[in-house]
Amino acid sequence: MKKFYITTAIDYANGLPHLGHAYEKVLTDVIARSRRMMGEEVYFLTGMDEHGQKVQQSARREGIEPIEFTNRIAGHFHALCEDLNISNDDFIRTTEDRHRKVVQELLQKLYDAGEIYEAEYTGFYSTRAEQFVLEKDKVNGEWPEEFGEVQEIKERNYYFRQSRYQDWLIQFLKENPDFIYPRYRLKQVLEFLKEPLNDLCISRPVERLSWGIPLPFDPNFVTYVWFDALVNYISAVGYGTPQFEDVWPADYHVIGKDIMLPPHSVYWPIMLHACGIALPKHLLVHGWWTLSGAKMSKSTGKVVDPLEMVQRFGADSFRYFVIREMTVGQDSDFSEDLFLGRYNGELGNDLGNLLSRLLNMGGRYADATVPAASISEEPEITLRENWEKSWKSAREAYDNFLFHAALEDIFNFIKGINRYAEVRAPWKLAKSEDPADRKTLETTLALMAEGLRLAACALRPVMPEVSAKILDLVGADQIDIWDERMEWGSSLEGAKMGEKTILFPRP
Ligand code: MSP
Repeated sequence: MKKFYITTAIDYANGLPHLGHAYEKVLTDVIARSRRMMGEEVYFLTGMDEHGQKVQQSARREGIEPIEFTNRIAGHFHALCEDLNISNDDFIRTTEDRHRKVVQELLQKLYDAGEIYEAEYTGFYSTRAEQFVLEKDKVNGEWPEEFGEVQEIKERNYYFRQSRYQDWLIQFLKENPDFIYPRYRLKQVLEFLKEPLNDLCISRPVERLSWGIPLPFDPNFVTYVWFDALVNYISAVGYGTPQFEDVWPADYHVIGKDIMLPPHSVYWPIMLHACGIALPKHLLVHGWWTLSGAKMSKSTGKVVDPLEMVQRFGADSFRYFVIREMTVGQDSDFSEDLFLGRYNGELGNDLGNLLSRLLNMGGRYADATVPAASISEEPEITLRENWEKSWKSAREAYDNFLFHAALEDIFNFIKGINRYAEVRAPWKLAKSEDPADRKTLETTLALMAEGLRLAACALRPVMPEVSAKILDLVGADQIDIWDERMEWGSSLEGAKMGEKTILFPRP
């Protein structure tokens, strides 16, 4: 059976990871983990984009070979994946042989088919954007800041005849309006395609850039970094071997909005189509994390260090925050206050305190064993109905990439468990000698445990460690699939509870 194949963008190896990179990995991981919970077999790829001028320059500045430089940066991104508990199956680096081989194979194929030609071009080149720019890109007669230094140069290069596929692409996008999620971004692409498409310059002369994959048909040139990087999505999964069919086409390429147009929505579909390879099913385009309104980026020095946050608050708290705070597709502003608000509020008060209260009372009143739930009155029925409603809604939200809403639903339920505990007040019932009160006390503890079990299962894609810990502490089995055990009342009676634990210590 074909696997559910999901990828992140591959990160430029010219600087350290920041919140934007970390978010994309967590988002993709949440999709991968939730699909596994839905019973799908998932293949999850991430990696590094290691060629190009910026990397060459950064290495030169440090007086080291580019590969030494990218080895070091790749180490940091690798560590980021581990620290964030990312469940990727593979980590591709564009400097690997397996990748170079496929890039060269595709180039040769296109060259042989007459899809690539050589021509001379005079134009303005931006080193920072690593591309030729046009007069129309000027803002108020000046090259915008993001282009860095712009020089006029004359150069022979190789071009990919992508313009001949413009009509095909427009037709394809119109026939597949859900190719891009969120759907409204399609309009942007169609708007872009109203202008005639130029052929794509896919080479850089080695005198200007040596750090790249040599063109197989002309060693005086290396491959343009986008033409190289995009191919990672197929080179990593055995393009040209029978195993390729088990994985390709990708179900989702998860990318930020800055690289949707033109690389992922124009170059990539056309490259694949020209090579006779099936297109990915969807692009999932997320927004930007900003700091006081400005995009977080290495070049402006405005960044949040995700590893530092993870060290202070734990991977799951970080994962919770970014997924809860950002609506997939839109931008979000980061601030430590917002983070602390959610950490102390939802995580610490609503979830953490609920668990420690249960474990505390379980130890004092029930020999740390989940008692029987023997009564079912209005508060019990309300709690159960709350679960059924919340989970139905959260499950749908998981399906539709509305992860912030899924978390909101699950935390509404967690708040419901807290309200239930307040209504039943087992700490008061414990003082009574009446056997009916004893039954209510026991039922309350049992339902708190059951509620926490279900909430932990529902939270698992976002907070895998916290989820496992809670299940362990309430004496429940771990689950790796959302099956009938997501139904209310899979009784925990007799299960051993753990010692009182603080899940989210006060900072
Ligand atoms: N190397 C290219 C991608 C090649 S994919 C074949 C690249 N690298 S990047 O390091 O600049 O960005 C990697 C991913 O991180 C992109 O999807 C980008 O949109 C995302 N983010 C970088 N900064 C971001 C924010 N401030 N916020 C959210 N994500 C952003 O582009």
